[in-house]
Amino acid sequence: MTIEQPATRPANPRFSSGPCAKPPTFDLTKLADAALGRSHRAAVGKGKLKAAIEGTREILGIPADYRIGIVPASDTGAVEMALWSLLGERKVEMLAWESFGSGWVTDVVKQLKIDAEVKTADYGQIVDLASIDFSNDVVFTWNGTTSGVRVPNGDWIAKDRKGLTICDATSAAFAMDLPWDKLDVTTFSWQKVLGGEAAHGMLILSPRAVQRLENYTPAWPLPKIFQLTKAGKLIEGIFTGATINTPSMLAVEDYLFALDWARSVGGLQGLIARADSNAGAVHAFCDQNDWIGNLAEDAATRSNTSVCLKFTDARIQDGSAFAKAVAKRLEAENIALDIGAYRDAPAGLRIWCGGTVETSDIEAMLPWLAWAFETEIASQTEAA
Ligand SMILES: Cc1ncc(COP(=O)(O)O)c(C=O)c1O
Repeated sequence: MTIEQPATRPANPRFSSGPCAKPPTFDLTKLADAALGRSHRAAVGKGKLKAAIEGTREILGIPADYRIGIVPASDTGAVEMALWSLLGERKVEMLAWESFGSGWVTDVVKQLKIDAEVKTADYGQIVDLASIDFSNDVVFTWNGTTSGVRVPNGDWIAKDRKGLTICDATSAAFAMDLPWDKLDVTTFSWQKVLGGEAAHGMLILSPRAVQRLENYTPAWPLPKIFQLTKAGKLIEGIFTGATINTPSMLAVEDYLFALDWARSVGGLQGLIARADSNAGAVHAFCDQNDWIGNLAEDAATRSNTSVCLKFTDARIQDGSAFAKAVAKRLEAENIALDIGAYRDAPAGLRIWCGGTVETSDIEAMLPWLAWAFETEIASQTEAA
């Protein structure tokens, strides 16, 4: 039995959750002004690094007294640098509801062996945000990329907290409003919402985080790559473009291009509107079809970037094999690339809806998802 294919195809089939689709206006010639073969410490290189920092501040609305640093090893580097440099001064609450948050729990409990209260929720759910004691440090992921569950807002974070909040916002920054007064450490990678390149992470510190860095020395040794202070003082250069080690000036140029594009679509509010529109199209599709649903149970926690879906049709015999087969069909038709669920997540699909994706492409892809579903059900029935 052959199911008829939809007539319209997405212009861009890239729906990966990282590295994410490049901005629609991207092409390699846009990077021709990169400071290649030049020292990153020369005026031209430092100028570009500073522009990356200040462009980030401008678009994300980060307060003037917050430090923004470009650090090694993408988002992971930025998060681990913060965990290793800041934690251990007091008890910490570790919140996790998917794979990356769980990775930070492992760092803190198994590697650093810190006194931690670990609060976890299954994929699709979120921890009890009302139960957090903000006299402790609190580590959490704003948007769980592998479950599609995000915190609904920052209202649950105490304004007068004694501990620090450390937030992995890699799949949230540039797609969601981040309340800077509630966040002491925030991290993200260029490869996510703006469709930049990996390699470098962004580390954003509140004045309270800086105060902790300057007044607390962890009991464990720190490799050079994690060191943010020298002789008890913040290394200010890191936050003005004098990076710890050599950055990729090609990746920097690419990020500058992405920031320019972000400005051209209306800055942060424009980016949020684009992500909302994309995710809204996927949510509407789930409402219209009873064989597919959002993994995030509570609508208030549903991501507008990494939208995770599960198949709910009783005819499906092997959920994991079925989801993989659907993703494979869409990839083979060059309709949707890289939309299989994350390897540790429940079987299903994950469709990136961040602002670099065009809503018209999501809308063109969804009928194909229905086609792949029906085709796979038919093929499963024929095989039985
Ligand atoms: C929430 C979250 N944290 C951390 C990472 C790791 O990011 P990177 O590979 O940029 O270090 C990812 C990557 O997808 C992520 O989604």
